[in-house]
Amino acid sequence: MQLGEPGPDPAQLARLLEAAVRVPDHGKLAPWRLLLLRGDAKARCGDRLAELHADIDPLTPPKKLEKDRGRFRAAPLVIAVIARIEENHPKIPAQEQLLSAGCVAYNLLLGAQSLGFGAQWLTGWSCYEPQAAALLGLASGERLIAYIHIGTSREPVPDRDRPAWRDVVSEWKG
Ligand SMILES: Cc1cc2nc3c(=O)[nH]c(=O)nc-3n(C[C@H](O)[C@H](O)[C@H](O)COP(=O)(O)O)c2cc1C
Repeated sequence: MQLGEPGPDPAQLARLLEAAVRVPDHGKLAPWRLLLLRGDAKARCGDRLAELHADIDPLTPPKKLEKDRGRFRAAPLVIAVIARIEENHPKIPAQEQLLSAGCVAYNLLLGAQSLGFGAQWLTGWSCYEPQAAALLGLASGERLIAYIHIGTSREPVPDRDRPAWRDVVSEWKG
């Protein structure tokens, strides 16, 4: 909700996407693809997700449906990152394919920020709901792993507490 216009122009978007797909990719499987949500389609997508949410659970509180409707309205660009994992690949474990897709999502964050935009990785129930995947046109076996929201920060974003590296780093000495 802290992101607004402007979003990337076409040249910036092309640069961003070109950088985003340069990721480590064991076996060169490209186990990911990207789906752009922009313009009026963002609001329509939120509306359709709210309808689906109400269908799946008619007791969904109106506040949650409202959240669904507003989900993609604020940031001018949302990029859905879709993992296409070959579960039984003879050489490349599913974990490695999923991590490669995660790198694409993170590259989008880094790329957007290095172009001067704000960006945030959000998920939510629709990433884990097969009917939402179908609504977005995902094939069976494809998974939504991220909605990367990109725009211009409306206000300075205060940093949050971060783990100290010393708390998470150790050394193996045999
Ligand atoms: C896989 C994944 C899913 C996330 N989903 C959400 C989410 O749905 N809602 C949310 O507030 N933050 C979510 N986050 C956290 C935000 O992306 C972000 O890390 C957090 O708001 C703090 O900002 P910063 O660490 O990027 O500075 C998710 C992070 C990851 C890695």
